[in-house]
Amino acid sequence: MAVPWSSSDLHLDWQPDGGRRGLAEALRRAIRDGRLSPGAVVPSTRTLARDLGVARGTITRVYADLTVEGYLYTSQGAPTRVAATGAPPIAPPEEKIRPRAAPWVPDARWDLYPGRPDLSAFPRAAWLSAARRVLQDAPAAALDYGDTRGPAALREALARYLARTRGVLADPGRIVLCGGFKHAITALGHVFGELAFEDPSLPEFRTMATLGGARVTGVRVDEHGLQVSELDSPVVVVTPAHQYPLGVTLAPERRTALARWATDTGGLVIEDDYDGEFRFDRQPVGAVQALAPERIVYAGTVSKTLVPALHIGWLVVPRALAEPVRDALAGTGWRPPALDHLILAELLNSGAYDRHVRQRRAAYRRRRDRLLGALPPGFTPTGISAGLHLMLGIPGTSEEEALATISRHSVAVDGLARHRMAEQREPGIVVGYATPAEHAFGPALEALVTALREITA
Ligand SMILES: Cc1ncc(COP(=O)(O)O)c(C=O)c1O
Repeated sequence: MAVPWSSSDLHLDWQPDGGRRGLAEALRRAIRDGRLSPGAVVPSTRTLARDLGVARGTITRVYADLTVEGYLYTSQGAPTRVAATGAPPIAPPEEKIRPRAAPWVPDARWDLYPGRPDLSAFPRAAWLSAARRVLQDAPAAALDYGDTRGPAALREALARYLARTRGVLADPGRIVLCGGFKHAITALGHVFGELAFEDPSLPEFRTMATLGGARVTGVRVDEHGLQVSELDSPVVVVTPAHQYPLGVTLAPERRTALARWATDTGGLVIEDDYDGEFRFDRQPVGAVQALAPERIVYAGTVSKTLVPALHIGWLVVPRALAEPVRDALAGTGWRPPALDHLILAELLNSGAYDRHVRQRRAAYRRRRDRLLGALPPGFTPTGISAGLHLMLGIPGTSEEEALATISRHSVAVDGLARHRMAEQREPGIVVGYATPAEHAFGPALEALVTALREITA
């Protein structure tokens, strides 16, 4: 039973058998919660001992402990009072810039919401054995605060991997690890102060750039990717290998034009290569970065190849930007998780990462083929055969209505409209076919197709 504090009408959440420690914690809680406000006089030790039915010496010791801890203060000849603890509560950021979690269909049974790989396919055994090797072999110095760019071992492994698989001109000195693209774009927003994003693009990234302090504008995308000739911002964020969300690829002449634009105007390109490993119909096209490595920041992540929970991404930056970008990333308070970084380096060096990506590529390709094969007439897929998502044009209804119908069938997908910055054009839905576990993909697909049929019925 909670004991009432009769002297001040305060209910102390305290049980007599909690002893001195329990009483001290109850008082701390009351002070932290603001039920005992700064400056309030606390009862004398004699009064409180009588009220609570405990020895006076117990109260004296509790008051002494809390005084040492800064919860109470005493001054000669005056009663003991509650001290002002901590900072005032932090006001939540304004609604319009608060980064939001994905707008899930709350209780959707079938998760085809884009943005994540099949989490159940995480290579646990490979990760575990890489972790064991790292813990056996890493010197004690590897457990220090470490280089803010991330451990050299991972930067070296990534330099080899990115050169081999994505044609990136990388050397460990220009690689900076980060907590994923969301983290990177916040810091880059801070460094550059103005960023143009593809229209359409993921609104969450635009929000993060704004939080970093950047002014954000849009550049239109058509079936050949970013309209390079429309660029009028000093820095642009692009998804050349697989435009998100439309799924198109940047046409060869626009790749050249983009590199030329950056070189000729002194502009800068941020190349978001979020799913470049997953091209199904041909060898992946290499990164644009190699065309102008001193004008392009290349960004990669393990969020699609492994899992988002690792929060591991990397930037390959022009030499002149290595320091400011490193400092801006560190300025967000983030520090490289060195152990996870060393495990990833081990995974890359042992070939286990390549094996996992190969296996996932085959699995996602099968899923994409099944989805395309099952689509009812009228739904038009856009984009190349790649990645973890599919953009579908919707016939004869509004996007809102289509999403409502799909949601009624307990399927989570995303809508195209929220990705747009300028005027709304054709409605669309974005389907993430990678997310369900293997056994759930068939039923999820069936539920989606049933909903799509209903839309056109
Ligand atoms: C377009 C795009 N870029 C980048 C990322 C990776 O972001 P992060 O590394 O923060 O998980 C994603 C993940 O959803 C994405 O959809």
